[in-house]
Amino acid sequence: MEKNQNKEEEVEEEQQVVNPWKVEAKEGGKIDYDKLIDQFGCQRIDPSLVDRVRRLTSRPPHVFLRRDVFFAHRDLNEILDAYERGEKFYLYTGRGPSSEALHLGHLIPFMFTKYLQDAFKVPLVIQLTDDEKCMWKNISVEESQRLARENAKDIIACGFDVTKTFIFSDFDYVGGAFYKNMVKVGKCVTYNKVVGIFGFTGEDHIGKVSFPPVQAVPSFPSSFPHLFSGKDNLRCLIPCAIDQDPYFRMTRDVAPRLGYNKPALIESLFFPALQGETGKMSASDPNSAIYVTDSAKDIKSKINKFAFSGGRDTIEKHRELGADLEVDIPYKYLKFFLDDDTELAHIAKEYGAGRMLTGEVKQRLIQVLTEIVERHCRARAAVTDEMVDAFMAVRPLPSMFE
Ligand code: TRP
Repeated sequence: MEKNQNKEEEVEEEQQVVNPWKVEAKEGGKIDYDKLIDQFGCQRIDPSLVDRVRRLTSRPPHVFLRRDVFFAHRDLNEILDAYERGEKFYLYTGRGPSSEALHLGHLIPFMFTKYLQDAFKVPLVIQLTDDEKCMWKNISVEESQRLARENAKDIIACGFDVTKTFIFSDFDYVGGAFYKNMVKVGKCVTYNKVVGIFGFTGEDHIGKVSFPPVQAVPSFPSSFPHLFSGKDNLRCLIPCAIDQDPYFRMTRDVAPRLGYNKPALIESLFFPALQGETGKMSASDPNSAIYVTDSAKDIKSKINKFAFSGGRDTIEKHRELGADLEVDIPYKYLKFFLDDDTELAHIAKEYGAGRMLTGEVKQRLIQVLTEIVERHCRARAAVTDEMVDAFMAVRPLPSMFE
């Protein structure tokens, strides 16, 4: 019986791979998110949970929540129960600075975290894992640190409140209480366990094997004595894409043994590549993604040229059958970025019935994305080195819960 189960798992692994370094649907297919929820053991976010967020924050839930972009969670209910009793929490998210130019997929967790920070009025820590990228990519320590600072500017441009936000680079911040927690976590995780969770092999260098505690411990308030001293029971909520789940499975597993709360998670889908939904956008293929540095002209030509269409081959067929919205990238992108629910529903109806053509939908998408990218560029240009220093200074945040 056990043997059989193992075998099944192996077959599954061949079909779909999702871990922090690789997102690959089974051949020619889409990521099966239901299966992922099952495999990882998280919960789906249902409409009643979204409604609860609406009530507790007295504001409309973010598009990403309304439209199931953030679709899975762990213990979100517990965080909300505590919040309802008047207990605040803190947010933790991060970025591995592997490239200079971010694409739209990279912005999603930060846009959402900004909404959470505003809606719940809570502090936020943002980890820049320059150490991680230095170990996984062929990047020097210095280059990785430079990229971290550059990426910090894009993150700050998303509008975070400096009085509630601490951004840190691992190379600069790891030490003291943070490092003590890393060692405590490390002692609870066997080599076999990390191999099981992350799939390390005997050829992987030990830097990789020893990294997971670094990403784990920002989940514990005692890693930030300058922020949360005396608040050891403060809960943590982590917004992230679901490929980061393995790190936090490990974290949640060890937390009780250290006498700490398990972090709660709110997890997103991957933002699909222009060519279609078989993985996530890749920073290494410039034609698969819209970058925040793309010009209006780039955006227009990429969408017109590469965005996979669910429209039919001929106009006659399209009028007859309508677009296949299940695979249509322009429509999917609008679902992420077009705020207006009524307009989106209108497009779904008209395009799906074949009365609207792909060209029109692409046109609207080009407008929406150009506006977002231009707004981001303006905001980023306004971020000074002094502002980066201010966000990254190790300091108390006096008004973090107001
Ligand atoms: N490993 C993540 C990446 O490569 C960065 C990261 C660190 C992160 N801590 C996090 C992402 C917490 C989400 C939540 O991008």
